[in-house]
Amino acid sequence: MSDLIPPYGGTLKDLRLDAAAADEARGRALELPGWDLTERQLCDLELLANGGFSPLDGFMNQADYERVVTDMRLADGTLWPMPITLDVSEAFAGRLATGDQVVLRDPEGVALAILTVSDIWRPDRAAEAEAVFGTRDTAHPGAAYLLQRSHPVYLGGRVEALELPSHYDFPHLRLTPAETRARFARSGWRRVVAFQTRNPMHRAHVELTFLAARQAEANLLIHPVVGMTKPGDVDHYSRVRCYEHVLKKYPEQTTALSLLPLAMRMGGPREAVWHAIIRRNYGCTHFIVGRDHAGPGKDSQGDEIYGPYDAQALVTEHAAELGIEMVPFRMMVYVQERAGYAPIDEVDEARETVMNISGTEFRRRMREGLEIPDWFGYPEVVAELRRTYPPRARQGFTLFFTGLSGSGKSTVANAVMVKLMERGGRAVALLDGDVVRKHLSSELGFSKEHRDLNIRRIGFVAAEITRNGGAAICAPIAPYASTRRDVRAMVEAANGGFIEIHVATPIEECERRDRKGLYAKARAGQITGFTGIDDPYEAPVEPELRIDTTDCTPDEAAQQVLLKLESLGYIDLR
Ligand code: PPS
Repeated sequence: MSDLIPPYGGTLKDLRLDAAAADEARGRALELPGWDLTERQLCDLELLANGGFSPLDGFMNQADYERVVTDMRLADGTLWPMPITLDVSEAFAGRLATGDQVVLRDPEGVALAILTVSDIWRPDRAAEAEAVFGTRDTAHPGAAYLLQRSHPVYLGGRVEALELPSHYDFPHLRLTPAETRARFARSGWRRVVAFQTRNPMHRAHVELTFLAARQAEANLLIHPVVGMTKPGDVDHYSRVRCYEHVLKKYPEQTTALSLLPLAMRMGGPREAVWHAIIRRNYGCTHFIVGRDHAGPGKDSQGDEIYGPYDAQALVTEHAAELGIEMVPFRMMVYVQERAGYAPIDEVDEARETVMNISGTEFRRRMREGLEIPDWFGYPEVVAELRRTYPPRARQGFTLFFTGLSGSGKSTVANAVMVKLMERGGRAVALLDGDVVRKHLSSELGFSKEHRDLNIRRIGFVAAEITRNGGAAICAPIAPYASTRRDVRAMVEAANGGFIEIHVATPIEECERRDRKGLYAKARAGQITGFTGIDDPYEAPVEPELRIDTTDCTPDEAAQQVLLKLESLGYIDLR
């Protein structure tokens, strides 16, 4: 082990108590206030506990946090770019004083760690976003998390871990820093280059890692993140199956694969420095930083948030302190004349033909079931991804009808349901407004809060149906645009299509029909907060389809929906 690179800060932290102490602590934990860790906190706790975040020995106290935010350093001056904080609600923090202990639990309620609270404070989260991510724009996933999802109070303090979070998936690939180090030592790997990724690997990645390993005269650790990555990424189950295929492309005994339970912040340059520290703790001597490392994508104005090589520049600036060597890479492209890959800066574009398929183009081809050329992807990897992302004709989808009471939503939804069932091939479920209110939301009224809750429940069920390849047909009023947007995100995250249909029948017509007599009651003041009368309806700005049922039969309206589904590729009418 002595030949391996020393961990960052000199010692590899292991915050786990020994078995006897952990048992004793579990007993004590029953009496302590408990905090259920969020998904991100759970990832952070795992890397604190197993030493991936050495030299940290707990969630940051206020002094460390403030200096990390402003100077990228812990209070003692150690370079550390990312706040590792435990954010909790006001209500929970209100029960605590410094010196108290808190038990940290996983989502099933298992006690994982005890935190001894040294600091309790209310951070300026917008200032944190600005300093750490360079923006408060919520198009940046890290800033969005801070400003929209994190809790307002931070707790700092030492952590004693009772056990590591349990993972039932790919346990053989989840090596801790001590385990990767032991493996490197056993295999005589003194120089190891780490490759960070949150995407499936194609030929370009393999070529890049080959080159990097050759340049560094090192073995290779493929070290993909399986904690939290960028919203919309390929799920880690599919990715890991792809990595297992890719591993076979490397000469035996040269390359290892291990999964990193990190919650990424998409913090670009600062994140690259953080990743380098983590990889050093895992025993790596070299670290690949490519184009746009941990990039958050574009801001809400459509501009890039960081330059493509800013991350390389910041790692270079701190190279001496990091003690792990960066292997910088330009984008790898396929060069037709060479029938192989090369970094773009080594290609003479005037004489050679450069080929590349962008991530967006790759996704389009997958979605439409189009060919992926062999020079781009390994057939096994492409086949694996096709299982996860079948062409639209085999994907689930949600038809989300929205409109005023009496606009004809339920009638058209019913007609579409019957036509889809007549065609067969997909399970179809109808979540009509009235039916949902009877079975799922019987305790709810019509305040904004209750309507939102109702719509989110519908969204949850629709996303599950969609995830499993079915067609969910929803027909609530759903008067609020932001709630509809959330439901769209839930469904799209379930790898399916979301088709919003605004049933835009004018209120005069809805009121003239007044099938349930509710408009009359609303006008008479017997019902208050009635949508369209004395409660808002925010009409969709860009629905996939808009239908006015004033002058069309349910059959005609249903036909418009089916044609839309066909034009989007979800069904084939021929
Ligand atoms: S929401 O806003 O999406 O949660 O509404 P939804 O679940 O679709 O329920 C709407 C049905 O409830 C009846 N109803 C009312 N609608 C609007 N506002 C008020 N205050 C109200 N009170 C009762 C009405 O029959 C709606 O059914 P539809 O099928 O839309 O006519």
